[in-house]
Amino acid sequence: MDKSLDWPAASRAREVQFENVSESDLLALESAYCSHGDTVHYTSQLKIFDRCEGSFLYDTEGREFLDLQMWYSAVNFGYRNQRLNEAAKRQLDRLPQVASQYLHREKIELATTIARDAEAKFGKKGRVQFNVGGSQAIEDSLKLVRNFKKGKSLMFAFEGGYHGRTLGASAITSSYRYRRRYGHFSDRALFVPFPYHFRGPKGMSKEEYGRNCVQQFARLFESEYNGVWDPKSGEAEYAAFYVEAIQGTGGYVIPPKNFFIELKKVLDAHGILLVVDEIQMGFYRTGKLWSIEHFGVSPDILVFGKAITNGLNPLAGMWAREELINPEIFPPGSTHSTFSANPMGTAVAVEAMKMVRETDYESMVMEKGAYFLEGLKDLQRRHKIVGDVDGLGLALRMEVCEPDDSFTPSKAIVDRMVNEGLKGDIDIGGRRYGLVLDVGGYYKNVVTLAPSLHISKEEIDLALKLMDVVLERATRI
Ligand SMILES: Cc1ncc(COP(=O)(O)O)c(C=O)c1O
Repeated sequence: MDKSLDWPAASRAREVQFENVSESDLLALESAYCSHGDTVHYTSQLKIFDRCEGSFLYDTEGREFLDLQMWYSAVNFGYRNQRLNEAAKRQLDRLPQVASQYLHREKIELATTIARDAEAKFGKKGRVQFNVGGSQAIEDSLKLVRNFKKGKSLMFAFEGGYHGRTLGASAITSSYRYRRRYGHFSDRALFVPFPYHFRGPKGMSKEEYGRNCVQQFARLFESEYNGVWDPKSGEAEYAAFYVEAIQGTGGYVIPPKNFFIELKKVLDAHGILLVVDEIQMGFYRTGKLWSIEHFGVSPDILVFGKAITNGLNPLAGMWAREELINPEIFPPGSTHSTFSANPMGTAVAVEAMKMVRETDYESMVMEKGAYFLEGLKDLQRRHKIVGDVDGLGLALRMEVCEPDDSFTPSKAIVDRMVNEGLKGDIDIGGRRYGLVLDVGGYYKNVVTLAPSLHISKEEIDLALKLMDVVLERATRI
């Protein structure tokens, strides 16, 4: 290592010419100066990427990595999407900055487009507001719910659900790990089983298990002594149910079609709001603008983020029914943040909305998803460690298990698959590739596949060949 980088001579690092620093020196600086708090250091090999294009990331040595997670589904339209990058450049040269108490055309256009689309789909007039990250938009939605429900602070959410890591968002996220160190700043949600059929009770069809989960939830309202419902006043102690139509971090778990229709009946009967978190599954990941559109129910609040700007200037936000969000009830300043409806983010999002209306993303994503899923089924037939595969559009899952029963979750094997992919040494047709995979699931044993929606058929074939190799290597090691 370059002597000038040597810890504890830390002050000298200020003089480093970063363009000339080797990868190993950069990693040494990372270990000295970067907090790990804002990352997810899942892999044992830390990887630096230098460039990106389409479905690929490139490392500092120019090695090519096919990316099947696309920044946790924030880059649905491919890296350096030309049309969206041009929109960012145009905004950069015209109005890149303006305080949020003033207006700009892009904010109004984006809010109008999303609200009119929601009105057509959900049959309700509503409004849209913005913030920067998904977690912040979730926080904003919590304020909206608590305000409308006169301070009621208790929420339902799903086991396996993920809504972010700010304080309010982690209170409604199922994993205790995200709360353990910090005490309670907000009421923890009551976590209810999600119809995760692969790991559900044996002998029930997907639909039966969906119905069974709703019945378990409905029991809570049977009498006042079940804990959440006062039949005399007709009031529930809980204000809203936070759902992901398809669980993201929970492992791309897809519920049966009847599930949300039946759940919504219970919510409506007890005056509980439905908040749909589309942060990961929105923007055509599942073949529809919003994944909840597959399930025949209308939300009261819908939260979005990530791919709305294809991972460029961050933007997130929410749509809500007029009764909840009109300025009389939710006045200016309720959730203000400096960068909330920033012009760079809204400009890119306006272009993204135009793009998805001009092209038939629905057919394209469903066709590519079906083709990819067929390939995953073939891998399942050939590899005992693949316990389950499933998908909706281009949100696909592969559950990795112990080879003796193809059921016991194996995080260790998945970790090996991820590490093998990151080596960048897989020979396919005389060319070397790496593979970027993301891991999720209740047991962190699920490869959650979120390729670019623009992925070509040849790239899907390449993805399947690369997965075949990492599955084989991870079994052998
Ligand atoms: C469903 C869901 N909700 C909320 C969030 C949090 O969003 P962010 O990471 O932008 O804060 C995520 C992030 O992965 C998510 O997948």
